[in-house]
Amino acid sequence: MQSLNQFTLTEAVKESFKTEEGSRLKFLLETFIEHLHDYTRETNLTHQEWMGVLNFLYDCGKISTPERHEFILLSDVLGFSALVDMINTRGGATEGSNLGPFYLDDAPVKNLGDDLATGREGVIVMAKGTVRDILGKPLAGAIIDTWQADATGTYPIQEQERGQDKYDLRGKFTTNERGEYWYTTVLPKPYTVPYDGPVGDLLRAGNRHAWRAAHLHFIIRAAGYRDITTEVFFANTDYIDNDAVFGVRKSLIAALKPVKKGQDLGVSVQRQPDAMFEFEFVLAPE
Ligand SMILES: [Fe+2]
Repeated sequence: MQSLNQFTLTEAVKESFKTEEGSRLKFLLETFIEHLHDYTRETNLTHQEWMGVLNFLYDCGKISTPERHEFILLSDVLGFSALVDMINTRGGATEGSNLGPFYLDDAPVKNLGDDLATGREGVIVMAKGTVRDILGKPLAGAIIDTWQADATGTYPIQEQERGQDKYDLRGKFTTNERGEYWYTTVLPKPYTVPYDGPVGDLLRAGNRHAWRAAHLHFIIRAAGYRDITTEVFFANTDYIDNDAVFGVRKSLIAALKPVKKGQDLGVSVQRQPDAMFEFEFVLAPE
């Protein structure tokens, strides 16, 4: 039997897994074990600290529900989610950003020019732009699947007990023959990620806040192209430089411009906007 010590242990653990030679699983597992062991040796982790980590993970599991996934939140505040988004962004395509916890895959189908914020107060903005491929070709029939918080920073899905419809402030638009999209909605406000659980304790321990910069969520799809999950932010708004989940990229910040009464918008809309922004989504081939 091999005599194990703190340096030979790592290889022994790797070899104990009989995974397929050359497989992705083997690579992921072995790399994880190496880094975890390296971290442990490098930090001289104590029993107390080790148990602290395990109890923290236990608490994350305990507070999680189908609606509240504390591990996703942990991934977000550690920049792990942002890193996965960054690594998986294709050159030339729109940068990816957080999916967040509130996506529904069956949002109502909308027509170009519709208002997503029917009956809601706030700053009404027109979103307008095109979907193109990385060579600049407009993509007709692309799907713009969007969802967002309201003018108080709340998602309607969070307020169903107070009579809100979970399908409010979300919709699927299809680009026209020139790859264009436009609609109106209410300008969302910043909101905090949940900070009443273990991840909140972690934020407090690090003297960090829980605020997200105001944003609109998007998934853009077109046949033959790679889907993009991303967010659009607004220039000069709160937390744009210190979003709690590291979702902001410079290329995802849109400039809001005021819209004057009677101004020719070039397209027809259901509701008169107070402001507008333009944003181009770029998709890479599959
Ligand atoms: Fe969000």
